[in-house]
Formats: sequence, C-alpha cells, structure tokens
Amino acid sequence: MHNVLTYLHENETRFIDELCQYVRFPSVSAQPQHRKDLAACATWLVRRCRQIGLETKLCATPGNPVVIARTPRAKSKGRPHFLVYGHYDVQPPEPFELWKSPPFEPSVKGSSLYARGASDNKGQHLAHLNAIEAYLKTGAQLPCDITFVIEGEEEVGSAHLAPFLRKNRSELRCDTVVISDTSMIGPRHPTLTYSLRGLCAMEIKLHGPSRDLHSGLFGGTVDNPAMALCQLLGQMRDKKGRVTVPGFYDDVRPLSPYERKQMTRQPFNPRAYQKFLGVPKLFGELGYAPIEQRSARPTFEINGLTSGYQGHGSKTIIPAWASAKLTLRLVPNQNPARIRQLVVQHLRKVCPPAVRLEISDGHGGEPYIVSLESNYVQAALGALRKAFGYEPIPVREGGSIPIVNDFKKILKVDTLLLGLALPDDNAHSPNEKFDLGVFAKGMQMSACLWQELAAVS
Ligand code: BES
Ligand code: MN
Repeated sequence: MHNVLTYLHENETRFIDELCQYVRFPSVSAQPQHRKDLAACATWLVRRCRQIGLETKLCATPGNPVVIARTPRAKSKGRPHFLVYGHYDVQPPEPFELWKSPPFEPSVKGSSLYARGASDNKGQHLAHLNAIEAYLKTGAQLPCDITFVIEGEEEVGSAHLAPFLRKNRSELRCDTVVISDTSMIGPRHPTLTYSLRGLCAMEIKLHGPSRDLHSGLFGGTVDNPAMALCQLLGQMRDKKGRVTVPGFYDDVRPLSPYERKQMTRQPFNPRAYQKFLGVPKLFGELGYAPIEQRSARPTFEINGLTSGYQGHGSKTIIPAWASAKLTLRLVPNQNPARIRQLVVQHLRKVCPPAVRLEISDGHGGEPYIVSLESNYVQAALGALRKAFGYEPIPVREGGSIPIVNDFKKILKVDTLLLGLALPDDNAHSPNEKFDLGVFAKGMQMSACLWQELAAVS
C-alpha cells in the first residue's frame, strides 16, 4: 500500500498531463457533429487503459462506444469483483464567450484545471484508473478484480447502456458498483452520496387558433395560449412552495432522525449560498431547510418556455400555440410512471377550456437510495476518511444518475457514490474546472477503497 501511494505521488505531473490530453477531445454527446470526436476520445481511453495493463475492449453500440477495461484476472477464484462506472461524454460548452480560456484547451490556474469535462466526468474516473495503474505497475497486491465501464452517452440519458448491461450481464456480475460523478462538500468534508433524486420529464403544448392572429382584430374573443399556459403552470405550485398536484407527496419518504442528524453536519451558510446563486432571496417549500429542499424534497420545474414572437421589436399577435419543457425531480419512494400519471390527470383537469392540451412523453428515472448501514458504505467511508484525513459526511443529493437503478435491477447490486466535484467546479456551466488537489486525494482514496471493500466482502 505504501508503494502504491508513493507511486501515485511520484507520477502526479504525468497524470495531470494525461488529463489535459483527455479533455482536449470535444466529446459533446448532445451534438451530432461531434460523433467522430467521441469515437476518438474513446480510442484514446482504450490506449490509456492498455498502457496501464488492463484488458480493454472498445464495444460498439447503436450510439457511442462503451469502453470496458478489466484488471488481469487472478488465478484464485472467488475474489470480490467491483465495477467502476464513468462517462467520457461532456455537456455542450456554449455559450463560448463566457469562457475565460477555450473549453477544449486545458489551462491550469492555481490548483485548478479548466476545461469542459475536467470535473464531469473525465478527471473523476481517471483518478480511479490511475490508482489501478499504481497497483499494477508496483506489483502491489490488488485484493479484488475490477472492471471499468466508461460510456459516452450519460449526458443525453444513457439510452444504450441498459441493453448493454443486459447483454453482458454475466461478464459484469459484481459485488458493488463505484461511481465518482457526484459532488463533495469540500476538501475538508469528503462526501458519500447515499441518495439521488429521480426525474420525470415531459413537454406540454397548448394549441389555440389555427394560425397566429391579429391581436387587435381578434383579441378578446379567443383565449391566448401563452396566457393560458401561464395560468395553467402558475397553479402547479402554491404560495408555500408546495406542488399542488393531488397525491404528489403521498409516497415521499421523510428523513429519518439519523439522516437529519447527518444533514446538520453539512456546513451551510444561507447568505453565502444566496449570493453564490445570484438571487435576491431564496425560495422553497415552507418548513424545510435549503439542504433538505434541494436533496430530499421533490420539485416541479419549468426548463423552457416557448410561444409567440421572439424577434426584435413588437408584433401584435395572439400566438397559435405555447409550449413548455418540464421536469419534476423525485425523491424516494416516488415512482416516475405514477407521478407522470398524476401530473397528466391534474393538467387535463385544470387546463383552461378554450385551448387544446397536448402532452408528449419524456424520459424518466427513479430516485435512488442505499442504506447507510451497508458494509460497503461503511468501508467506503473508511477510504474517504483515510485519504482526505477528515470525517466523511453522508449526504443526499439533488441531481440524477438514472443508470444506478439499472445497475440495481440488472446486476442486482448497490452503487457507492464517491463524488470528487467541488460545488464551484461549474459542472454544465462555462469555466468548468477540476481541483488538482482533489484529483490527487481522489487517487489515494481509490487506492484505499479496494482494500476496504475487499475486507468486508
Ligand atoms: N454527474 C451528474 C449528476 C450529479 C451531479 C448528481 C452532482 C449528483 C450531484 C450527471 O452528469 C447529470 O448531470 N445528470 C442529469 C440527468 C440526466 C438524465 C440528464 C441531471 O441530473 O440533470
Ligand atoms: Mn456526470
């Protein structure tokens, strides 16, 4: 173990260089013009995995390829097997003009590396790969088998990964999954995420007149779809910040006293948080603290609104239609299909009568929660404690990684979420960065993790 940590330390500069090479690929999965860049990025990753000494395959899917890389299997049977998941695709970099340095030209400033994908998720899964390199190159005894599954479609919903898991179920059978793709509170507060919110997405459209109408000639006799949409959506939340859909909260599992106690360990300054977000005042469901509101309470959000004239100046029309993109964040034990049904029923019931409501299907993802009493969770907390030198905090987080439920259903295993992204890493925003100190600690954490996990297997 000592050798492994020394090796990681001695090779730090090269690891940073390699992360720089990796983030140079504009592997933007949402944009079709980058398909070749995704393939090139996957090929780079395959080469890197082979250098480490992993048995590596580039697996074609109907979408972007999946990289599978496994440690050479030991002769001794019955060793535990762990799976590490990551994604090499990244969010679109736009708007370009807000980047201080170009998104795909890595630049180191202070102790941070700036580039799209540095934190979400290239730096985070490279930390694990580098830890395994240290084991394989020093000849230290790795107490388990490890398989990396690194996909290229996470940021667009992982459509081809569940079928891939089903097809390769026997090769991927494992004891638990490890993912570093969530946040950590801070370098002095290493974090284990034991719950994620789920998601229910849909688009609604209100149809009015068969074409845009002159608002002077016809206004007053027909309903305005944009106005009707505002009225409809305005009713979805009350003044106390509660979602008004009947039955919406029925299945919400409240925090246990133990969870509540863990929650109070998180440092949180409402004033600093409000300033960081740039809002005049915080707003949320009455009776809950912000930490709980953003992680353990469900929400109804409008992500996009479209209607009428958007160009310069004014245009006096009654728009023919108005539409909205919606997502609801769900918490344990809400079910996305059931919530969709409740929302659709309610929208239909309260929709103004002089417009026609169209609702299209959208993707969904279940919320996730793993018991804090699990041996693996306790072992992972041990690895975080050893590497970071501070007491780790278990947290619920508000984001979603729908694939964790497929790991549960298809491979029948839990996922340990050991995030290395700092809250100010600007994931999905301009000027994304990854903290190089956290990168180094993350490698050490991974090195310790395999010992700790194997010990409780
Ligand atoms: N890595 C994030 C999810 C995340 C980040 C979870 C921080 C918890 C803490 C992931 O890449 C992501 O952004 N997921 C999407 C969901 C997907 C279906 C588009 C999300 O949460 O919006
Ligand atoms: Mn991610």
